[in-house]
This record gives sequence, C-alpha cells and structure tokens, in this order.
Amino acid sequence: MRKPFIAGNWKMNTNSASAVALAAGLARQLAGVETIDVAVCPPFLYLQSVAAALSASNIALGAQDVYFEGNGAFTGEVSVEMLKDCCCSYAIIGHSERRHVLGETDALINKKIAAAIAGGLLPIFCVGELLEDREAGKTTQVVADQVKKGLDGLCPERVQAVTIAYEPVWAIGTGRTATPAQAQEVHAMIRSLLEKLYGKDIARALRIQYGGSAKPSNTAELMSQPDVDGLLVGGASLKVEDFAAMVKAIA
Ligand code: PGA
Repeated sequence: MRKPFIAGNWKMNTNSASAVALAAGLARQLAGVETIDVAVCPPFLYLQSVAAALSASNIALGAQDVYFEGNGAFTGEVSVEMLKDCCCSYAIIGHSERRHVLGETDALINKKIAAAIAGGLLPIFCVGELLEDREAGKTTQVVADQVKKGLDGLCPERVQAVTIAYEPVWAIGTGRTATPAQAQEVHAMIRSLLEKLYGKDIARALRIQYGGSAKPSNTAELMSQPDVDGLLVGGASLKVEDFAAMVKAIA
C-alpha cells in the first residue's frame, strides 16, 4: 500500500524567527508520527535554520522550486546540489504559481524534474487545471497533457521518485476545495495514465497528493478517496495546530 504523504508549502511566508518557531512547533507536536511521511517546504532562505529545528524529528525538508543546471551563471537560481547540501529531500516543481504567475513552461518543468531525480532529490510535481479549463470540460485533457510533458523522457525507474500533486488552480488559496469526488476522478485518471505510460506496478506505487484549500475540516473526507494518497497544503500549513491536526487525522 502507498504510505500517505503530506507536505506543507509555506510559499513566500514566514521570517527567520517564525519559520523556526513553526518548524519547532511541528517537531514537538508530531513526535512519534511514523505511519505517514511529512515534509515542510519553507522559503529557500530559511532551509538551513528549519533543517536544524527539524533535526531530531521525522519531518523531512523540501524546497519550493529548483533549477535544472548544476552551477554557473544563473543569477538567482538554486541547484539540486545546493538543496541537498541544505538537507532537502524534496522539491516542489511546477507549482501553479510558478506556471501562471512566473511563466514556467512544461518544458522547463520537465528539465527540473529530470535534474532533481538525477541528483537524488524527490520531486513533488504539481499539475492542475484553471477554472476556465474545468468549465470548458477540458480538465482531463489539460492535466493529462501536463503529466505527459512533465515526465517526458524519464525511464520508469526514475519516475518512481516522483510524487504527483493534483492542485486545481481554482481551489488554491480560494477556500474553494475540490469535492472528494472531483479529486478522486482526476486522481484516478492520472493513475490510469501512469499505468499506460509506465505499467501497473509503478502506477500503483506512485503517490498522488491533492492540493487546494485542504484544511483540518476536509482532510478526512479527501483522504477517504482511494486514489488520494496525501495532501499538499498551503495556507493551513502555516499554523502548527492546523497542520498537526491534518497529520494526525491521516495518521
Ligand atoms: P492552499 O495552497 O492550501 O493555500 O490552497 C495549496 C498549494 O498551493 O500548494
């Protein structure tokens, strides 16, 4: 069975003191939780101090993005090696805010995913449709296209390193969560696509998180769906009590 995986995406929030306080609070609240994988993804600047605050915990560290080149003249970018050097295990790649606010393309996302896996970082690969896509009946087409392009060229062994996060853009930060049935429908579609591309074993093993206004009050019903294997949490991951409640509800 797939081990549930919940990750907190802190986005461009916290400061040096509040990031450490949040991490330390989670480490205290979640001591002994082992039946699910938990990660937090703070801003790059606070990775090292958060890593120190989490050092005695089971909570893993992730970055919110990564660049695909190893090093060199790429002003402002951060490499896989740098993230590993700061104790990261995961990197969120292709988040909708990076796609739609910062203009990332499927081709760039694909390079980042390949580089992350090659360097030993586990991608949390985000996909999701806009409201206009959903209203036009294009959800399956858009999400399937993002999955195919994001994973293009990866051999099945490498694909096993990936967690997919289905995040309908209209549900992110809006308080408008997808219904459990809407989430399940897309998750099942993604899993059957993975089966076609990489075979049954890999499709069964890959974890698919849901993201978009996930919070303590909807965690249990979202997680009750057979193809929802975890959550990628934005707003609710910024409060120790909320994120800890979600982890405990799943565990
Ligand atoms: P949200 O964000 O939980 O605040 O909707 C989720 C995400 O963007 O990963």
